[in-house]
Amino acid sequence: MTIYDKIERTLQQLGVSDARGVESLFAELQKTAEQERAELVSRGAPDQPQRDRLCKALRDRWLARKGGVLSRVDENWLKPAGKELKPVVGRQFNDLRRWTASLEFEKLAEALPLQEAPVKQVELPLTTGAGRAVPRDLTLPGLRRPLGSVHPVTRMQREIEDIFLRLGFWIESGPEIESTYYNFDALNIPESHPSRDDWDTFYIDAKTVLRTHTSPVQIRAMEKYGAPLYIIIPGKCYRHDNPDATHYPMFHQIEGLAIDKDITFADLKGTLDFFAKMLFGEKVRTRFQPSFFPFTEPSGEVAVSCFVCDGQGCRVCKESGWIELMGCGMVHPQVLRYGGIDPDKYSGWAFGLGVDRFAMVKHDINDIQLFFQGDVRFLEQF
Ligand code: DAH
Repeated sequence: MTIYDKIERTLQQLGVSDARGVESLFAELQKTAEQERAELVSRGAPDQPQRDRLCKALRDRWLARKGGVLSRVDENWLKPAGKELKPVVGRQFNDLRRWTASLEFEKLAEALPLQEAPVKQVELPLTTGAGRAVPRDLTLPGLRRPLGSVHPVTRMQREIEDIFLRLGFWIESGPEIESTYYNFDALNIPESHPSRDDWDTFYIDAKTVLRTHTSPVQIRAMEKYGAPLYIIIPGKCYRHDNPDATHYPMFHQIEGLAIDKDITFADLKGTLDFFAKMLFGEKVRTRFQPSFFPFTEPSGEVAVSCFVCDGQGCRVCKESGWIELMGCGMVHPQVLRYGGIDPDKYSGWAFGLGVDRFAMVKHDINDIQLFFQGDVRFLEQF
């Protein structure tokens, strides 16, 4: 007989006729209440409405005026109890009432933990790449995930790196969040100088920018290694450009820097001509035109004869026969000084090129944004 059956009978019907029997009945009740409460707490509830419902049900089962356990005990055990037992039953009943009150069923709702949404156990069907179910033959070879490929810009970067690595250059890198000192001042671009506006800059604060070019790493490397120095510096750069077919706020450059004794413009020309032939084929010719950059003097623009039409004029070279490759020049003595290198002892040349542009020219891609949209249909062509 459960305790719930027992509260529907009188003590007499239950054959309880002494204090010990009464006490053990009440002890049983107390234990049941405790258990029910503990069980509910440990189970928790899936959500708030359910939690409130479960807590109210527990409270009502014990405390409801009509039909609650306590009211049944009052009705069936206390009221009909004989003279000798009544005081014991009354005391026990009061104790039970106080005790159930202390369980604070009303407050239980706030304490009850909500269960986390159960994680659905999804059984993964064994499928082929095309999604067709295959029989569960465990001796079959494993399923292959489709492999990605090296991004065309990264691939271009590596091709360029390889050429310079073979010439004895090594690869250096620097921070993308850069001080205005390295990005501008140390490159001979003073704050008041209008050429600062040539770089549409993302400022983080008055003295910190997203680097607008890889040139600041020239200074960092000079400070770190001194001369002689033969390095290339690939990396991301940022400019406040509106995205269009040839601009994107983030893009990639490779900087080149050679510093040694007796370095001349002839070294610059020879190296870049060799580089262009390695990359675009023996047939191409290079063209050097004067230009201006604050950190080189003299400065130049390098172009290569169009490797598609051999200089005849086509879509790739925009009918000009030439493809612009990069800016370059002899490192300005002031820049050497900023890097801690004595311009009376050493000289050097430098260049900076846009890797994305190189990849566009090479693959005849007419929109730089395609590189960064992550569209697999575009990327898997490379
Ligand atoms: N830093 C220049 C730019 O982003 C490119 C450049 C030009 C780098 C000439 C050089 C250089 O090292 O000599 O526009």
